[in-house]
Amino acid sequence: MKFGHFDDTQREYVITQPDTPLPWINYLGSEEYFGLISNTAGGYSFYKDARLRRLTRYRYNNSPLDMGGRYLYLRDNSTDTYWSPSWMPTRVELDDYECRHGQGYTIITSKYNGIRSSTRYFVPLGESLEIWQVTLTNESRSDADLSLFSAIEFCLWDANDDATNFQRNYSIGQVEVIDDVIYHKTEYRERRDHFAYFACSEKLAGFDTQRESFLGAYHGWNEPAVVENGKSYDSIAHGWQPIGSHHVKVNLKAGEQKQIIFILGYQENPKDDKFDPPGSQTINKKSAKKALEKYLQTANADQAFDELRDYWTMLLGKMQVTTPDEHTDRMVNIWNAYQCMVTFNMSRSASYFESGIGRGMGFRDSNQDLLGFVHMIPERARERILDIAATQLKDGGAFHQYQPLTKRGNNDVGSGFNDDPAWLVLGVAAYVKESGDWSILDAPVQYENEPGTESALYEHLQRSIQYTLDRLGPNNLPLIGRADWNDCLNLNCFSDTPGQSFQTTTNKDGKVAESVFIAGLFVLACKEMAGISRKLKEERGDSFVFQLSSDDYFQFARDMETTVWKAGWDGNWFRRAYDDFGHVLGSKENTEGQIFIEPQGICVMAGLGVENGNAVKALDSVGERLATPHGIVLQQPAFSQYYLHLGEISSYPPGYKENAGVFCHTNPWIMIAESLVGRGDTAFDYYTRINPSAREEISELHKCEPYVYAQMIAGRDAATHGEAKNSWLSGTAAWNYVAITQFILGIQPTLDGLQVKPVLPSKWSGFEAVRSFRGVRYEISVQREGVGNEVSLEVDGKSIGGTIIPLPAEEGKTVKVKAVIR
Ligand code: BGC
Ligand code: NOJ
Repeated sequence: MKFGHFDDTQREYVITQPDTPLPWINYLGSEEYFGLISNTAGGYSFYKDARLRRLTRYRYNNSPLDMGGRYLYLRDNSTDTYWSPSWMPTRVELDDYECRHGQGYTIITSKYNGIRSSTRYFVPLGESLEIWQVTLTNESRSDADLSLFSAIEFCLWDANDDATNFQRNYSIGQVEVIDDVIYHKTEYRERRDHFAYFACSEKLAGFDTQRESFLGAYHGWNEPAVVENGKSYDSIAHGWQPIGSHHVKVNLKAGEQKQIIFILGYQENPKDDKFDPPGSQTINKKSAKKALEKYLQTANADQAFDELRDYWTMLLGKMQVTTPDEHTDRMVNIWNAYQCMVTFNMSRSASYFESGIGRGMGFRDSNQDLLGFVHMIPERARERILDIAATQLKDGGAFHQYQPLTKRGNNDVGSGFNDDPAWLVLGVAAYVKESGDWSILDAPVQYENEPGTESALYEHLQRSIQYTLDRLGPNNLPLIGRADWNDCLNLNCFSDTPGQSFQTTTNKDGKVAESVFIAGLFVLACKEMAGISRKLKEERGDSFVFQLSSDDYFQFARDMETTVWKAGWDGNWFRRAYDDFGHVLGSKENTEGQIFIEPQGICVMAGLGVENGNAVKALDSVGERLATPHGIVLQQPAFSQYYLHLGEISSYPPGYKENAGVFCHTNPWIMIAESLVGRGDTAFDYYTRINPSAREEISELHKCEPYVYAQMIAGRDAATHGEAKNSWLSGTAAWNYVAITQFILGIQPTLDGLQVKPVLPSKWSGFEAVRSFRGVRYEISVQREGVGNEVSLEVDGKSIGGTIIPLPAEEGKTVKVKAVIR
């Protein structure tokens, strides 16, 4: 069953029924000011940091679902009836309803008793404010006497305090209302130098800023007393729960239309110019004036919206494909790329499954997120890489997270995840391949954010590799530390205390438990390092300081491969790990957890077994043991009980999360591996199984949004097999983008130029693509003329050897590429 449909021409998903199985959300803003918005206008906004600079409140984990947002109420004053044009929170049944989620904007349109209302929510580029552009149309035959009320609930305190230290909040709330603009200034009198403002384009009939005055005692948002009575109190909040509500009277003749604009903004003032007049406690509002004057004008708001649309046309235009499959086209051309931007911006901080309070940007996560984003805005990826690298520890290890505001590393979710450093190598390699910007390797970068510790980024990468070499276990495999990519495989944890966090509790300084996954990742990272050093040497000769040569990195890779064949190969698949007792995990010797997906993906991606046939064996084992119609589960058989020596993975009931759920992040690794062994049909089949667009028809089961990937789909051991959870913020976005664009469609940036080497499904006759790469526009046409994967390339009419279109080509040029597959 569907709850809407794709409008690919508009690049929108159109939800046609408000009671979706879960709130289906979107993001506003892509720079510093962000908002989450659901299909019924739920959600909240923040500036840079969803914990400390949250502008509006949101109560997670509540019932009814998704209460609190950017609400409007319409009241027919002739009948004293009222409704919500976004359905929530009144849930009055609408005659018509439609929500269009686009890139950075959402439009909610509805009709009730002849009144059509359409609200466009978006954040203009370069601004720290959001616009709600409301168009009301009287489609009835009689004149309408209406009241329109806005309503938001302010935050501007540590969002964590909403649950833990609200006794303080009850006394700190402060507002000012001047010239019909509501200013929220909680904590401004002390250490904040920023405030929020909420304004309306119209003359007000009234306002409210105290929640209980607006709602009435014991009323919910579904029945505010002010809306019921049609009269605002003009209340001023002193402590308790500051809100912002405007009341506008609107008289519309039959057929008449009117536009009303609301602006919610964030504004900073210089520390010494906070108050006006100086010495008072009144906000200096001059800084907010310009934006208010500008965006309360329809023409300017419209122009800002057009600019936002154009911006996304430009970003998405960097890679566009036309294939025989509509689900591939709309994910690659629109939604997957868009989700990559969102995960790049948010890491794992703010979604409808992540509270925005666990505030970190993940070291491992951010390095992977940029893989799907770097082609859109390489400069931002560069900045991100340098920020992450500056949190690296001197021994090459990593803080697992860093804070977006301070950019400092922290141990809030533990540390000692021994895979972390290797991801930095993959992130940097992806950036250099995409941009050709070798200068990043010279950039001086601190360790642990300590001034004076700077070394070239290249040395950070060397230390990342060294970190693993310094931590090998009894089988010469890398020690796992707190965990590797799988945060829940906690082999040194041994937690027996209820409620204790597996992520942060003291671990054994384990000298035994080893990870085959890190071994595979290490081989992959060494090969990237070998490529980078080779190319650097070509470019710079000996003027660059190399401690290790390309050959050294190849040697590290070969040694680790030998170790994997000795201790990490189980006969038909790669093993997963050795536990603290030195016992194998992910082997036929185990009764549960015999085979895990992660090492099959990463080892084959690193090239292991591609030549000797073991890769195919491992992938066949995945197909036989792990693949389900809803995607590939993480391991089998699922852990049926809690195992002290395995940790969090066995804390989940079978079929959920890391305990044999379809942990979607890992599926594209298998798609890539299948492409590397030349099996395009299987790769594409796996791609389709978890492609959200291809799952749209089963939305009542899938539950999450059909336009973005979710972290997890319940596995075959679960009672709810096929049900997705944790949509939006997942490494799944970047990796699926990489799998489909770079491996299945085969358009891949390399150090030496753009590679075109598709591994397509056998039924496809070909596809077309345009790809911007290092300032050149490649128009690529792929045709299948035989059943194999052999590629011959013609570039601007001339055939070339190999599959890489050599550099350089003139910037701004268009290059025509014809690829024939036989
Ligand atoms: C989740 C993991 C996550 C970890 C750290 C666990 O509860 O299952 O997916 O990586 O928490 O936040
Ligand atoms: C989600 C985390 O953000 C990510 O870092 C981790 O790799 C996966 N969970 C698997 O545990």
